[in-house]
Formats: sequence, structure tokens, C-alpha cells
Amino acid sequence: MTTVSVFGGTGFLGRRVVQRLADEGTTVRVAVRYADRARTALRAAGLDQVTVFGADVRDRASVVAAIAGVDAVVDAVSAYVETGGLTFEAVHERGAETLAREAAAAGVARFVLVSGIGADPESASRYIRARGRGECAVQQEFPGATIVRPSAMFGPGDALFGTLAHLARLLPVLPLIGGGHSRLQPVYVENVAEAIARILADPATAGRTYEFAGPDVYTMRELVMIVLRIMGKQRLLVPVPFAVAEAQARLFELLPNPPLTTGQVDLLKADNVASGTLPGLRELNIQPTSVEEVLPTYLGRSQRESD
Ligand SMILES: NC(=O)c1ccc[n+]([C@@H]2O[C@H](COP(=O)([O-])OP(=O)(O)OC[C@H]3O[C@@H](n4cnc5c(N)ncnc54)[C@H](OP(=O)(O)O)[C@@H]3O)[C@@H](O)[C@H]2O)c1
Repeated sequence: MTTVSVFGGTGFLGRRVVQRLADEGTTVRVAVRYADRARTALRAAGLDQVTVFGADVRDRASVVAAIAGVDAVVDAVSAYVETGGLTFEAVHERGAETLAREAAAAGVARFVLVSGIGADPESASRYIRARGRGECAVQQEFPGATIVRPSAMFGPGDALFGTLAHLARLLPVLPLIGGGHSRLQPVYVENVAEAIARILADPATAGRTYEFAGPDVYTMRELVMIVLRIMGKQRLLVPVPFAVAEAQARLFELLPNPPLTTGQVDLLKADNVASGTLPGLRELNIQPTSVEEVLPTYLGRSQRESD
């Protein structure tokens, strides 16, 4: 791939995809709503050569401009909270559909949609349903699209462990949503970024769906215990029913950076682990990195410094 447009290229995952592609010598475009913020971030990362397009997946004309002349498109756009006209359906379903349709019309060779484990077009959850319907729309508009479904991703700046650590610093008790029984298979964000770069480099991956998960399955309670151990803290763990967590998340969503969203609560209602029926990191010759290997390198450091 010589030129790739990464929609959501400033995000937690997207910026790592951009970094890898740029390191390989690929010409990269970042397409996001806030172009100035993106230019500043790219400059700070030493990626001045990356071009930035102000684009919103809900605006067809801006999408067309951002993909003109590229060989591949990566959709790593995310909306975790619905506000005003910004709905899960508008971003994850219609937005993905617009990107795929315009990419096909422009003769783009490859399309990668970042979705998530558990995506389900029939789900009762607005978030999970939009993810599932987005996958279907992309497959229809761009039949050779590759879909990648990560489990919860971890790495410096992640929402999962970052939020747990933040709460552990602030509160004497920690909530265990749904009793903390949900099972997750957290995957290292750098493994996912590398996987997307390999997918783009290998035409045989076109049309496939991948599930990206880490080497180990944990319950939410086990993950909370790992965070507390690394931080050297002891906290009372209090089970919180899903309905209560949902009501809290609705209130949190009124804040600019909610520590918990209704979409996250919905995801915890079912296990977020690889099905085992789809290819994953190993099929791309990537050895999954464990939580225990990486988490202490950023959680321990930042937390101890701020204690
Ligand atoms: N983080 C996880 O643990 C996790 C787990 C499984 C799946 N995923 C999936 O992975 C993908 C990336 O997630 P992430 O956590 O990296 O997201 P993120 O950090 O929230 O980044 C979102 C990116 O999308 C851009 N964006 C948002 N709305 C947009 C719009 N309407 N048009 C164009 N760009 C828009 C943002 O830039 P602007 O604000 O400047 O537009 C930003 O670059 C998402 O599909 C997410 O559902 C994430």
C-alpha cells in the first residue's frame, strides 16, 4: 500500500496505526473532525509528513476529498457517547457505510473496518447494534473489506485500566459492575496496530473477519485486582448491578470525558472474548502480548508518580 487514509487517525488505536504505516514508508493521511488538533499531535509525534484532512464520516463530501487517490482506507473512528446529531448509528453504521461506499466508488483497493468483539446487528444495545450493522453495511458496499474486532484494548492512555486506576486513586471502594463476573480478553493496542499494518500488506486478508484478543481471559474482578496489586493499593470491592451502573453511566455521559458509558456497561453484559472460530493475531504471525507484561510499565509508573 503506498497511500492510506486513516479515519480516526488521532485516536487511541488510530494514532498507532498511523505511526506504524509511516514508519514503513507508507504515505499516510489522517482524516478526523478536528484537523488543527491532529496537526499539533502529529508534529509532536515527529510525523510532520502525514497529511491531515478535516473530515466527518457523516459528511459525504469531506469523505470523498479525504480518500481521493488513496490505495486503502482504515476506519478507526469511534463514538462512545451519543450527543446531539452524533449517534452510534450515524457514526458506526451510516458513517462506516458512507466510507465503504465512497471507497468502492473511488476504486480504492483495500478497506479495513475496526469494529469490536460482540458486534451484533440484532443486539438490544444501541451501541453494539450499530457496530454489527456497520459491519453488514461495509460488507455490502465493499465486499473485499477486512473487518477487525478487538476485545478491550490496553496500552498507555487506555480507557479500561486508566479508568480503574483513576477510580482506585479517588475512591475507597471500587465498583464491580454486574458483580465483576464478565470475562474479557484484553489485547495490547500495539498488537492490533501491527495487525492492521500486516492486513494492509497482504491481499490474502481481503474479505476476512479477524478477532483480536490477548493471550489470557480474565474476569472483571481479576482485572481490578491486578490494577490494585500493581498500584500497591487495597480497596473494598462492591458489586454494582447492571441497572445501577447503567443509570450512573447515563449521568456520567453528561460530562466531557465520562469515566463510564452506557455502551461500556452493555459490553460487560456478555463475555468479551474471542469466539475461537475466526482468525486472530496468530494467523498474522503476531504473538499476543500479555497484560502482565505491559501494564506495570505504564500503570505503576504514572500512578506512583502521582501518589
Ligand atoms: N478502545 C478500545 O478498547 C476498543 C475496543 C474494541 C474496539 N474498539 C474500536 O476501535 C476503534 C478505535 O477506537 P479508539 O478507542 O481508538 O477511539 P478514540 O480514541 O475515541 O478515537 C476516535 C477517533 O475517531 C475520530 N472521530 C470521531 N468521530 C468522528 C467523525 N464523526 N468523523 C471522523 N472522525 C471521527 C476522532 O478524532 P476527532 O475527534 O478529531 O474527529 C479520533 O481520531 C473504534 O471503532 C472502537 O469502537 C476500541
